[in-house]
Amino acid sequence: MTRSALKSNMLEVTNDVSQLVAANVSFLTVGTPSKANGSIDLNHVLMATQALGRVLRKKQGYHLVAVKSTIVPGTTTAFVRPCLELSSGKKVGSGLGLCANPEFLKEGTAIKDALHPDKIVIGGIDKRSAFFLNKLYARLHRGNVPPIVVTSPETAELIKYASNAFLATKISFINTIANIAQHIRDTDVNEVARALGYDPRIGPLFLKAGPGYGGSCFHKDLQALLTYSKRNGYDPNLLSAVEEVNDTQADKVVELSIRLLGDLKGKRIAVLGLAFKKNTDDIREAASLRIIDRLRRRGASIVACDPKVSQPMSVFGKTVQVVQDVSTALRGADCAITVTEWDQFGKLKASDYLGLMRTPNLVDARRVYNPSKFVKLNFAAIGLGSVG
Ligand code: UGA
Repeated sequence: MTRSALKSNMLEVTNDVSQLVAANVSFLTVGTPSKANGSIDLNHVLMATQALGRVLRKKQGYHLVAVKSTIVPGTTTAFVRPCLELSSGKKVGSGLGLCANPEFLKEGTAIKDALHPDKIVIGGIDKRSAFFLNKLYARLHRGNVPPIVVTSPETAELIKYASNAFLATKISFINTIANIAQHIRDTDVNEVARALGYDPRIGPLFLKAGPGYGGSCFHKDLQALLTYSKRNGYDPNLLSAVEEVNDTQADKVVELSIRLLGDLKGKRIAVLGLAFKKNTDDIREAASLRIIDRLRRRGASIVACDPKVSQPMSVFGKTVQVVQDVSTALRGADCAITVTEWDQFGKLKASDYLGLMRTPNLVDARRVYNPSKFVKLNFAAIGLGSVG
């Protein structure tokens, strides 16, 4: 899609920022990484805003700046606005518009999500800015305009954090139910989630129990919201619990391998999947890293397998052996743990494990298998009540 857009001149790519003068709207989409204390680092936002402002200095007509980067409430008004005004020599209002306009794209489906958003959020610094951006989206999605929420920049900024915090909460909630289920004979969290999902007040998505959420967004955004809110005098302890449940979920996975293997010292464990979700090579904040670290602390030796992550890789400063071929990972292993839901792992059969492993112990931390097909193995899974 990107290639055909480039070919038909629908998309031009340049590193010459001065060309932005020809546009009517600029979107700021730079990253806002975490600082050591959890708050967001606005350095990229600063640099991009200043560069854009300098270009807009010479511009004649109206220009709108829309901030897509994830920034805590108040940043558009109290940080971007003065930077833009200073660098452009203009006042926001007459010739210069400004909106907070958060995005809700998922890694791997970003283009589809951008073309078919479930909503658009516009936090206009003034009526003209909001109106201008609203018109642009109405034209872009002509015929199928999603709900457009026009609000203050601060509310728009908070909506982004609330969205990620809610999704993370759903995951930590179902992982909590999974951990409860694990101690109850004949229970299965997947069945619980399926039934919950039929309730329209709850909905079926983001109720898949597993090894805990990863990726560059949830942990970073929850930490930023926590830090920001505490500074404002309110401790949102629900969100701290969501993060704590997520972190300790790695321990639950390790506990299951101990249940099957006993002492992990000297045992060879195949970790199936490093990426934070399937169809990406992104390992930022991935559950695999937390799990590998904890397994190693207990003396296990690790061989990791991921179709998209190349070797060798460092986990918390120590190199981990990474192979692309799952048979190589399983050969001679004492235990295997599914950590990422790659399709190729889901296709493996009990006989594949039985044929390759030294002792066929399998922990299904991603719930990719039907337990009834794995009765010939020592099998344990997140949220599956122990038998006996
Ligand atoms: C997330 C949000 O879903 C996007 O809406 C948001 O725009 C984006 O962050 C962002 O702020 O940029 P993303 O990080 O790409 O998107 O990944 P998700 O698909 O949301 O998955 C996050 C993690 O949750 C993954 O590790 C995934 O395996 C896990 N997950 C997801 C579960 O453990 N269970 C579920 O039911 C769903």
